[in-house]
Amino acid sequence: MNILFQKKILLIICGGISAYKSLELIRLLKKQDVQIKTILTKNAKKFVTPLSVASLSQEKVYDDLFNSDNEAEMDHISLSRWADLILIAPATANTIAKLSSGSSDDLASTVILASNKEIFLAPAMNVRMWEHESTKKNIKILKSYGYRIIGPDIGDMACGEFGEGKMSEPQEILFETKVYFDQLNKNKKLKALVTAGPTNEYIDPVRFITNKSSGKQGYAIAQSLVKRGFQTTLISGPTNIKINNNIDLIKVKTADEMLKATQKSLPVDVAIFSAAVADYKIKEKNSIKIKKNDNLNLKLEKNVDILNYVSNHNSLRPKLVIGFAAETNNILENAKKKLIEKNCDWIIANDVSNESIGFDSNFNEVSIFYKNKKIKDEKLTIKKKSEISEEIVDRVIEQLN
Ligand code: PMT
Repeated sequence: MNILFQKKILLIICGGISAYKSLELIRLLKKQDVQIKTILTKNAKKFVTPLSVASLSQEKVYDDLFNSDNEAEMDHISLSRWADLILIAPATANTIAKLSSGSSDDLASTVILASNKEIFLAPAMNVRMWEHESTKKNIKILKSYGYRIIGPDIGDMACGEFGEGKMSEPQEILFETKVYFDQLNKNKKLKALVTAGPTNEYIDPVRFITNKSSGKQGYAIAQSLVKRGFQTTLISGPTNIKINNNIDLIKVKTADEMLKATQKSLPVDVAIFSAAVADYKIKEKNSIKIKKNDNLNLKLEKNVDILNYVSNHNSLRPKLVIGFAAETNNILENAKKKLIEKNCDWIIANDVSNESIGFDSNFNEVSIFYKNKKIKDEKLTIKKKSEISEEIVDRVIEQLN
């Protein structure tokens, strides 16, 4: 089976000596029946001609943000929506810097900024430029946006120097593209469930007990799963986050509702429990608002542990059950205890003693503890929650495979 058959790839060629390799890349992709649209930056046209690109891709070449013909035919937003994948090859130091800062002063950078698609970059530049601190920083930023970097290779350069910075060979870029679509296809057959956010346990119609969870970590995990092709159900307590349409979102308020929604969503292949579920609920909720002078005597009872319920399910236990643990002290001991008590496959522990990460922050730092002793426990140091999510999903895919 040709995994690339009729896939739509938007190829962006930037101005560097290795732009000539992009012609070979187009030829290889066309051989796989890929539909290719191409954007040439102003400097790319000094290295390859629009005519040669158009002849090989059998498509019109786009080059100008303010060309009314281009915009009438396919505007810069539609161009990025059209693609299944955006490939930037070669990606120069200048384009990398522009993308990392969110600049959008030409068609290529505008399309990328407006894109909601997977973006692959094949950097190409002189070794010193590649090793420069600013390029390293920019690449790190692009990785944090979820862009994938292919190469660069080490070798003799067109400028006469030797080192890392050569654009990966077209065959290698083709291979990475195939791997991506192949994995996406496999993931499309898989179902994932994520719980996120806090729960509200009502005392009376207007008051409840809750916690500081914003849902950011769980939503980011669901977004990463969808991006990789998983059919994803997100069961969320009350949050203010807006999400991707491709996620099947079930909104709940209480732990009981979260349990019911979880039960209805089974079976799944992987379940990730990042919600901060209240351990207790009010035994007898007041049906009318409690008055200040009422004698307040709240009786609590335990909520069902949803993670525990799922990981001990006889027939519907997912292949991979992942719990979270928010800890302020004895992180290692407490997390390992939860791993065993809740019978899950991994526990992802966050240190929430530091108020700037964890609950209601855009950042997190986690340690992953595995039940399978053959896999080494690991720590993901402080990063954006979106980056932590990407790394978690990388590991999920690895284990499900
Ligand atoms: O939402 P954010 O602001 O982005 O913050 C993210 C987070 C810190 C809330 C998240 O990363 C996290 O750590 N979630 C788990 C929080 C927690 O309080 O865990 P716990 O130790 O109470 O529970 C352990 C595990 O059991 C969790 O996977 C939890 O979802 C699950 N659980 C707990 C109780 C219960 N009744 N049902 C459950 O499923």
